[in-house]
Amino acid sequence: MASFQSELKALNQPTDRGDGCRVFIETYGCQMNVYDSQAIGGLLDKDGFETADDIFDADVVLLNTCSVRELAEHKIISRVGEIRRQRRNADLPPVTVGICGCMAERLGGELQKGTNRVDLVVGVDNYDKLPGMLSELVTSQSSARRKRTATGHRSDAHYVAPPSLYPVNNSHLVTIHKGCDYKCTYCIVPYTRGPQTEKSPQAILDEIHTLVDSGATEVTLLGQNVTAYNWQKELDFAALLESVSGIDGLERIRFLTGHPKDMHPHTMDAIGSLDKVCPWLHLPIQSGSNAVLKRMKRLYKRDEYLEMVDYARRVIPDVTFSTDIIVGFPGETEEDFQATLEVLSRVKYDQIFSFKYSERPGVPAAKLADDISIDEKKRRLAEVMALQEKTWNVEAAREVGKTWTGIVESAARHPRDSWRVRTPNNRKFVVADGLSSNLFSKNTNHGLKIGDEVSALITGFANTTFLTGE
Ligand code: SAH
Ligand code: SF4
Ligand code: F3S
Repeated sequence: MASFQSELKALNQPTDRGDGCRVFIETYGCQMNVYDSQAIGGLLDKDGFETADDIFDADVVLLNTCSVRELAEHKIISRVGEIRRQRRNADLPPVTVGICGCMAERLGGELQKGTNRVDLVVGVDNYDKLPGMLSELVTSQSSARRKRTATGHRSDAHYVAPPSLYPVNNSHLVTIHKGCDYKCTYCIVPYTRGPQTEKSPQAILDEIHTLVDSGATEVTLLGQNVTAYNWQKELDFAALLESVSGIDGLERIRFLTGHPKDMHPHTMDAIGSLDKVCPWLHLPIQSGSNAVLKRMKRLYKRDEYLEMVDYARRVIPDVTFSTDIIVGFPGETEEDFQATLEVLSRVKYDQIFSFKYSERPGVPAAKLADDISIDEKKRRLAEVMALQEKTWNVEAAREVGKTWTGIVESAARHPRDSWRVRTPNNRKFVVADGLSSNLFSKNTNHGLKIGDEVSALITGFANTTFLTGE
C-alpha cells in the first residue's frame, strides 16, 4: 500500500481538475482553522480551482467549522440553510456546500442527513482529498455520491498554508503541532483533532524560512498546547523557540496556546531571554477552584498556576497575560465561582475569554449532571466580565503618559485615517496617519503602512484599545 507521504507527493503535482470552479471558504472556530483554511485554499489553487468573493459568486461553499460549544455547531447548521436560501432569493442555482474542520470530524456522515444536509464532509486530516472529491462532485453527480465523506485521523497528514494565500498583515500563522493529548473532561478537541502530533522542527523552520523569504517579519506558532511541543522527546518548546529565533529576517515570534501544566520555568526563561519572542502569555486557567480544576482534569492547582504567573513576571520583562474561563461547570458552587473571581483580581489579565459551560456529547464531563441553570451561568458570566472590565480599567489607566512602540497591523475604522498597532506584549493602540510630533515611523516619512514600527504617547483608552495623541 502506498504510504501517505508518497500519496501526498503524487497529489502535489499541479492539475487542472478544478477547471475554474469557484470556491468560497468561510472560517469559524480557532486559529487552527484559520491556518487550515489557508492550506485548503493552497491545495485547491494548485488544482485549478478559483477563489470566489462570496457565496453568490461561488460554485462551492466550504464551511470550516468548530465543535467546541453547542452553539457554535447550531450556528453552522443554520448557516447551511441560510446560504441555500440566500442563493434562491438571488435567483442563483443551488450551490455545492461542504463541511470541513471539527464538525466534519465529529459528525461525519450525519451531516448528510436531515433538513440542512450538505454535499461533502471532509475532516481535519483529509484535506488532500478535497480537490479530487470536489471535482467529482461538480462534474459527475452519480459517482460523487459514494465519495462524499472523508474523515478519520492520520498522524502524518500535516498541511502547509502557502505564503501567497496569507492575508496581508504581518503575523503569519505556523501550526507546529496538531491534536491534543490532554483529556480535559469538558473538551471535544482531542476527539475532533486526534492525538498530539508534532511537525518536525525542520519542517517548521523550512516553513518559516519560506515566509520570511516572501516578506514576513512575524510568526505566530500555533497549536492546542504549544508548550507541550516535544519532538521525539528531544527538542521541546523552549528549544524550538531558540531555533526559530535564529532565523535571519524574522523579527517577532508569538505563540498560542500554552497549557499551564507545560509552562515550565525553563520555558519562561527562554521566552524572557530571547529578544524575538514576544512577552505575552495566553494561559487558560478555566477555573480558580481546585475542586473544579480536578473535575476538569486540568492537572494543575490554582496555587501552582499563580506561582507560574509570578515567576513569569520575574523573568519576562513587560509580560502580559490573557486567559480562558469556563463558568457553570457541573457542580461549580458559589464558593468555587468566587475562587475564579479572586484569580482574576490577583493576576490582572489584559484580556479574558469567558464561556458558559456547554455539554459536549461523548466527553467525560457529559456523565456529570449539567446542574447549573442557564440563568445562573449567565449571571456568573456577566459577573466575570464586569470584574474583568473593572480590573482592566485600573490597569490600563496606569499606562496613560507612557510611550509605546509597536507594529502597524491594519487600517483602523475609527478615527478616520488611523492605523491599528500591536505592541510585542499584545496591547493595541491606534495612531493617526501623518507627521504628528510624537509619532515617528522607522520606514517612511510620509504616512504609515502595514509592518511599520511606530512609537506613540498613550493618552487614554477605550476598552482594550489605547488612544494616542499630542
Ligand atoms: N487548547 C486550549 C483551548 C482549547 S478550546 C487549552 O487547553 O486551553 C478554547 C477554549 O474553549 C477553552 O480554553 C475553554 O475555555 C473553552 N471550552 C472548551 N470546551 C468547552 C465547553 N465544553 N464549554 C464551554 N467552553 C469550552
Ligand atoms: Fe481541550 Fe484541554 Fe486539550 Fe485544551 S488541553 S484542547 S482544553 S483537552
Ligand atoms: Fe473549535 Fe476545533 Fe478549534 S473545536 S476551537 S475549531 S480545534
